[in-house]
Amino acid sequence: MLSQEEIKEIEQTLQQYPNKRAACIEALKTVQRNRGWVSDETISDLGELLEMTPDELDNVATFYSLIFRKPVGRHIIYICDSVSCYVMKYQEILNFLNKELGIKCGETTMDNRFTLLPIPCLGACDHAPAMMVDNDLHGDLTRDKMADILKKYE
Ligand code: FES
Repeated sequence: MLSQEEIKEIEQTLQQYPNKRAACIEALKTVQRNRGWVSDETISDLGELLEMTPDELDNVATFYSLIFRKPVGRHIIYICDSVSCYVMKYQEILNFLNKELGIKCGETTMDNRFTLLPIPCLGACDHAPAMMVDNDLHGDLTRDKMADILKKYE
């Protein structure tokens, strides 16, 4: 069930859009900001508010890769797998993360600390290889730098 605060925030967002459907990504982001992910029940409740069927809303949520349809860790690592990063030893960074965290892309650590996800170009090609942790961009990654970076996120 959507909270009163969520409904209020979403209704304020709706005023900035020509119709309810156009605001669906922002509405999904609002819920995700509060809950960390978007459950089936929430999709259904949001659908009622936005006058969309659960399937329509689910299609948007599934297409938009930054909306999570299952629980994720406290921190999300987005590792760039596009060309510049790929040629600048992306694989070495990915191997480090796989080994250090014990997870592959798409998985969450047992302690729920990190979820590791691939992402297309982060726009930091001149600092490849690059990744984001939550909203922080990290570039010129090396194995040595990685351990220090991970320590910042408990
Ligand atoms: Fe990785 Fe552009 S290719 S940041």
